[in-house]
Amino acid sequence: MNIERFDHEDALATTLATRTIEALSLNPRLVLGLPTGRTPVALYRELRSRSQRGHVDWSQVRTFNLDEFVGLGAGDAGSYRSYMQAELFDHVRIEPLNAGLPDGRAANLAAECARYERAIALAGGIDIQILGIGANGHIGFNEPADSLAAETHVAVLQQDTRAANAGWFGGHLSAVPTHALSMGMATIMGAREIVLMATGEEKSAAVAGMIDGPITTRLPASFLQLHSRVTVMLDRGAALRLA
Ligand code: PGA
Repeated sequence: MNIERFDHEDALATTLATRTIEALSLNPRLVLGLPTGRTPVALYRELRSRSQRGHVDWSQVRTFNLDEFVGLGAGDAGSYRSYMQAELFDHVRIEPLNAGLPDGRAANLAAECARYERAIALAGGIDIQILGIGANGHIGFNEPADSLAAETHVAVLQQDTRAANAGWFGGHLSAVPTHALSMGMATIMGAREIVLMATGEEKSAAVAGMIDGPITTRLPASFLQLHSRVTVMLDRGAALRLA
């Protein structure tokens, strides 16, 4: 793993925005895997302001988000679709059909998971997967467990994960869905390159375990040790427990 430390999360976001735009200009048909949550907010702010200021060609880019809540979609304030539209897609010239998320409102969730895997394969696979990490070591909604799912699947959210998401639901834990559709571990590990960003001391234990600990289903991000092109971008807080 290639570990990079930044004094401030804004510097991290600026650096990753620059690299993403460079990758985009080298390959206009780039396939990007995208996260939601608090951590990438600064990255998306940077990407949209640079896209508005200068020429960034999003017309052929395809994106696949990691996950979506079951039961939510466009029009639901707490959905990751709404988050992505507000944070990025509504501000750049991406083709709506090229901006993919699993459909949390699909009538047949198993079929939707299979469709999502096929869509990623048809796009040629993910070139760069950007990830956050949960304080419990999850990536996407692959939660710590005795076993992990390989492909896009229906995930049961742990209580701490739901609590961490309550802010998107007016602070009401009861309003946070209990299930989500999430890329699986093999979906994520299948990306040609992975960039994981983590900020804040509350992530420092998960980050240390991911980098220095044993590979374990109890800390799903630890499997990234087996991928040959991973960059981990950390602010001071998230790096606090590293040697
Ligand atoms: P956060 O979520 O950026 O809101 O902390 C990260 C994650 O759970 O993957």
